[in-house]
Amino acid sequence: MTIYTLPDTKAFESCLNNKNTHLLTLANRAGMQIALSDYGARLVSVLVPNRHGDLVDVVLGFDSIDAYRNAQEQYHGATIGRFANRIAAGHFYLGEASFPLVQNNAENSLHGGPEGFHRKVWDRQVSLKKQVDFYYVSPDGEEGFPGTLNTCVSYELTNENEIKIHFRATTDKTTVVNLTNHAYFNLNGEGNGDILNHFIEIPSTHFIPINDKQIPTGELLPVEDTAFDFREAKKIAQGINTPVDQIHYATGYDHGFVNESPISSPAAAAYSEESGILLEVFTDQPSIHLYTGNFLADDQGKSGNRYLKHGGFCFEAQHYPDSPNQPHFPTVILNPGEELKQTIIYKFSIKK
Ligand code: BGC
Repeated sequence: MTIYTLPDTKAFESCLNNKNTHLLTLANRAGMQIALSDYGARLVSVLVPNRHGDLVDVVLGFDSIDAYRNAQEQYHGATIGRFANRIAAGHFYLGEASFPLVQNNAENSLHGGPEGFHRKVWDRQVSLKKQVDFYYVSPDGEEGFPGTLNTCVSYELTNENEIKIHFRATTDKTTVVNLTNHAYFNLNGEGNGDILNHFIEIPSTHFIPINDKQIPTGELLPVEDTAFDFREAKKIAQGINTPVDQIHYATGYDHGFVNESPISSPAAAAYSEESGILLEVFTDQPSIHLYTGNFLADDQGKSGNRYLKHGGFCFEAQHYPDSPNQPHFPTVILNPGEELKQTIIYKFSIKK
């Protein structure tokens, strides 16, 4: 059995772009521990008790800053910005003004571009060993996006085994913003096989179909009688090999679900019979994006095991992909004088 511990803080102490990097840790009274890095304002480790009370690290990641820098998969645990998921053809308009973006996913822009928020060293502040606040000022025009974006992401670990993530942002020019957290979870422990035997429950009645370039078609389709119906918990394995274009385009699930749950009830949940660990996600965001790690390819993780296809899944609470080009989707426009505020809560417990 793997004994999971937090990574060595020294392996995260470096200097990138004239800024020092660190590993920050939080612990609660229930014994849960998390580690965060200011490189990408990211979750590095999440140690939660399984049904036997043993701590399991349920988040994929690496044990040094260099491993994060060099990994094929760059988004592990990171804060994603300025725009989570894809913007078609790396381009959008605001009124008459045209904004070409850096294209890093064929012709699309993915997750804010190659030098998105996941690659930045954020300033940080730790309060009462309970909360870490990360700050980043994204300059006007960064990766093609207009406006200076002042961003704050705070992580709080509660005694109820919740990680509460609050995002805030303001701008000095009208812009588009879509922030999320990109933690990959494996509730059997990172590096411990794939997640196909996890149960997923998502109350959404509609999902956001994509085309062969993984851009939303613009429709919202009913989940009823499709592989996207998770209104009753079912194993990922049950639907992931359904021979339909939607699954084929992404070689698995990589789709937004329309979230109509208030923040007081879960927008999505996952459960592993093996560990007994239940993860529930609460959010005020209009969508939960289920991504089943379809493109994970062989990075060596914290425990020394390799992260293969479906080695982890993400529940990315966010706005709909490509919203800047799809005016009927909920707006992602942020104007000067407004403050963007959003919340994602990951809550862990043992399923009764
Ligand atoms: C996207 C995937 C993408 C992955 C990269 C996910 O959020 O939906 O399509 O390949 O991020 O890690």
